[in-house]
Amino acid sequence: MERGTRPVGKKLHVITYGCQMNVYDSARMGDVLAPLGYRASAVPDDADLVILNTCHIRDRAAEKMFSQLGRLRVMQQARAAAGGRMLLAVAGCVAQAEGAQILKRAPYVDLVFGPQTYHRLPAMLQQADQGRQVIDTDFPAEEKFDFLPEQAAPQTAGGLTAFLTVQEGCDKFCSFCVVPFTRGAESSRSAASILAEARRMVAAGAREITLLGQNVNAWHGDGLDGREWRLGRLLRALAELPGLQRLRYTTSHPRDMDDDLIACHGEIPALMPFLHLPVQSGSDRVLAAMNRRHKVALFDGLVDRLRRVRPDIALSSDFIVGHPGETDDDFAQTLDLIRRTGFAMAYSFRYSPRPGTPAADRPGVASQVADDRLQELQALLRQQQDAFNAACAGRRLDVLFTGPGRDPGQVAGRSPYLQPVHMLGPAALIGTTQQVKIERALTNSLTAVPWSHSRIEERACA
Ligand code: SAH
Ligand code: SF4
Ligand code: F3S
Repeated sequence: MERGTRPVGKKLHVITYGCQMNVYDSARMGDVLAPLGYRASAVPDDADLVILNTCHIRDRAAEKMFSQLGRLRVMQQARAAAGGRMLLAVAGCVAQAEGAQILKRAPYVDLVFGPQTYHRLPAMLQQADQGRQVIDTDFPAEEKFDFLPEQAAPQTAGGLTAFLTVQEGCDKFCSFCVVPFTRGAESSRSAASILAEARRMVAAGAREITLLGQNVNAWHGDGLDGREWRLGRLLRALAELPGLQRLRYTTSHPRDMDDDLIACHGEIPALMPFLHLPVQSGSDRVLAAMNRRHKVALFDGLVDRLRRVRPDIALSSDFIVGHPGETDDDFAQTLDLIRRTGFAMAYSFRYSPRPGTPAADRPGVASQVADDRLQELQALLRQQQDAFNAACAGRRLDVLFTGPGRDPGQVAGRSPYLQPVHMLGPAALIGTTQQVKIERALTNSLTAVPWSHSRIEERACA
């Protein structure tokens, strides 16, 4: 193939928007391009290829992308004036949704490709090198995972935490959402392929793996025993990998939380006691309008059952305010749900009409009303997040240290609840999980001391 026919030492700069699946995809694009001589460059200025990996989930994403492209265009022209060439590529969900429109509006773009075709990048680049514009937004029959290189570069500094896509696409068609259109139908990788990738990640130094999917708990695939496995069984198999300390999975849909998956939270020590479970609204009327296909009671029941098997589990969620048809009373029910559940954190969005989705054709909630609701909801969520962090002070938590801290002599890591934690300590702690005593909750992070020190101090005081 192209290996050897292209000069080595080319520079690649990838700009990533959107969800963690895009983060995973961006890293894999780097892996596909590495054999062609591309190495990551921290800045776009001198890159031979710049890829914008885009997100289409809410409006303004496309506008943001075009203004970013405009800035890159200036660099591209400067490069051409100096006798060089910068290829510009648009990837991801805007590429999938807008396709040829992008080339019309920004004719200086060289490549447009969707989330399911980036394994074909070498062939696309060959065409682009010959001066042809390339567009590839297929949903190909072949699985891109079967074509991606086995050797993967670490995704994060130090490579201690890694994302692993196990499932893609969505068949749920919530009334507001573009994902079924941009990512295509639900499909799951086989357990063997996932376990092999996880083993390679651990061998390369990963201590924590987060399984990814638009509906990760809808994952079902061929198991190692020839039977069909669901996510719980896969988690149990992954938990056996020597060297892997932590497991997470995201994003789950309430309808796909099955009994075994709930049981896993009580039985797998490596499975972190923190679950992102989007509910979107606390009103059955709105959930029906959103086509979420479950009621509020299902969510409440799941929270109870999860807390029964894992009392220290913390929850996060996603909320949309101002979905077409949402009344003051519906919104009040969402606030109620938040109050009775208690979230460690949550994401909240003002409803954004997306072309081609059913909700986009319905009359919306007045803009000011939606803004006010969002503010009120975010204030409540902020209160809960602050309270959760404050309640961590004095607690013993396990922290996986992943790098140096903000200040000299500090190391930094994440708690089981993904809170950033800073502690004075030697760099040798990086890559290890330590029991710490949380000292203080700052706005967005925690400070800690080693648990062993805190025990010594307690004894000294006694
Ligand atoms: N598959 C996940 C969510 C994927 S999108 C799930 O079903 O929960 C991430 C979040 O973006 C959603 O949970 C939703 O809260 C938000 N979102 C999606 N479409 C949106 C829209 N049109 N307007 C506002 N927020 C939206
Ligand atoms: Fe979008 Fe709904 Fe699918 Fe989540 S479940 S990706 S919100 S359509
Ligand atoms: Fe955005 Fe596509 Fe992810 S629309 S949220 S990048 S699946």
